[in-house]
Amino acid sequence: MFKKKVKVSSVDELKSFAEKLSPCLKGNELILLIGDLGSGKTTFTKFLISAIDLKAGEEVSSPTFSVMNIYETEKFTVYHVDLYRVKEFDMSDIIGKGIVIVEWPDEEMNKFEEVPTIILKFDIHDEDKRIIELDLIKADYVKQCI
Ligand SMILES: Nc1ncnc2c1ncn2[C@@H]1O[C@H](COP(=O)(O)OP(=O)(O)OP(=O)(O)O)[C@@H](O)[C@H]1O
Ligand SMILES: [Mg+2]
Repeated sequence: MFKKKVKVSSVDELKSFAEKLSPCLKGNELILLIGDLGSGKTTFTKFLISAIDLKAGEEVSSPTFSVMNIYETEKFTVYHVDLYRVKEFDMSDIIGKGIVIVEWPDEEMNKFEEVPTIILKFDIHDEDKRIIELDLIKADYVKQCI
């Protein structure tokens, strides 16, 4: 497992981080977003989807109430899931079929050993600064983009 910490000092730097990451994605990754309320999980998702497909990115909103939003981008399907209010959610139908981005994942979610998994832990340092800890599981190819 590969780990790295990335400092983003502003929303703009988060955007650059998402833009740098996106070309490495093959389209079947599981991306787990961990971090407190307001740490930047949805903001990151919007930037990442915008980097994949600008039009799709414009539509991104938080799936807190809908649980899952689906974006058909130019390259691949992106599933954006928010489990803040949900205890159980079966992802077996979607896993590996597109990029699956999960806010508030439960602890067992890195058990999908067959899919490349990217875990991003957002730590709030002050109003605009975040430290993002990144773990790559079966996704070493992403190293060149971070
Ligand atoms: N460096 C930064 N990175 C990310 N967000 C930042 C940063 N600086 C300020 N912010 C602000 O913090 C807020 C992050 O909100 P966002 O909805 O993305 O959080 P979230 O982690 O998805 O929260 P929730 O758990 O409620 O879904 C936004 O208002 C954003 O503008
Ligand atoms: Mg959110």
